[in-house]
Amino acid sequence: MKALLPTGDPEKLVHFQERPEPAPQPDEAVIAVEAFSVNRGEMFLLMRPKEGLLPGKDIAGRVVVAAADGSGPAVGTRVVAHPPKAGWAERATVRTSSIAELPDEVSFETAAALPLAGLTAIRLLRTAGSIVGKRILITGASGGVGHYFVELAHASGAEVTAVSGSAERGERLTALGAAEVVHDVADATGRYDIVLESVGAESAPQALAKLRKRGQFIWFGQASREPATFSFFGFFAGPESATVRHFHYADSDEPDGVDLATLVRLVHTDRLHPEIGRAEDWSLTSAILTDLRERRIRGKAVLRVGQ
Ligand SMILES: NC(=O)c1ccc[n+]([C@@H]2O[C@H](COP(=O)([O-])OP(=O)(O)OC[C@H]3O[C@@H](n4cnc5c(N)ncnc54)[C@H](OP(=O)(O)O)[C@@H]3O)[C@@H](O)[C@H]2O)c1
Repeated sequence: MKALLPTGDPEKLVHFQERPEPAPQPDEAVIAVEAFSVNRGEMFLLMRPKEGLLPGKDIAGRVVVAAADGSGPAVGTRVVAHPPKAGWAERATVRTSSIAELPDEVSFETAAALPLAGLTAIRLLRTAGSIVGKRILITGASGGVGHYFVELAHASGAEVTAVSGSAERGERLTALGAAEVVHDVADATGRYDIVLESVGAESAPQALAKLRKRGQFIWFGQASREPATFSFFGFFAGPESATVRHFHYADSDEPDGVDLATLVRLVHTDRLHPEIGRAEDWSLTSAILTDLRERRIRGKAVLRVGQ
């Protein structure tokens, strides 16, 4: 079967190769992939690929081999799934605990945009706790995670300020419920109960400075690749006694399949609206990864698996 594998060339990160058909474990189904999406973290891994890297964590398609242990969906079921690897291929194996069924009304393209970014957004919300009435600041908000988070946090009663690189990149965030969209974190007004930071470099200490006393700083990424520097004494200027929380989406009590089913339900009931900035044939995956790296994609990019 055809699969996209790393090249090691930063100008063309993946290319097609022939791979053996997947051999599922008893608790794994085989899915014929119809669409997948790409993530910033995956793009970073492809920049310097380790031996044996098989990319692909966000897929949607149809079950072609059901799990031998009887768990999970039957052959022919439309699904969205979150394999740990090897999803950018015609067929992929996924543990049934990381699969959710799709109603006919949710397209493969829409579903493929959900897994990693959507799981991150709902788990960030869980980490934040009760947010009704809270003021929240989120940096790097114009990407995949940011759009999901803003819509869900607004629906949960928070007042959200989003930081995006430009007005065009912030447009949908306003439509999805952001109370304020700024293009420089320094322009965010007032103090925040919760700050979510994923850009790094100077964005992180500037965002921290917007936190109120005893606020919560949730640190979930470093999109710029530049580490952040914090000063102990800086906290006395506002965020005194703040909690700094490192976040990794995979550290979750809920199985992926359960949270995926929640995301699908929210989309199906018109309460979550994935922002898909680009949708292309999978032959264009390298070009899309370059656009992602260069901050040219608003929301998610989805690739359709063609012949
Ligand atoms: N901790 C976890 O478990 C976890 C899970 C998922 C994602 N992440 C991380 O969370 C971040 C957001 O994920 P995502 O999937 O939403 O990524 P994404 O779609 O690539 O969005 C990242 C956003 O960051 C903004 N940004 C600001 N300064 C940047 C810079 N110097 N370089 C690159 N981007 C910059 C960009 O928006 P503008 O151009 O509009 O500023 C971009 O839209 C990433 O860093 C990702 O690696 C962490």
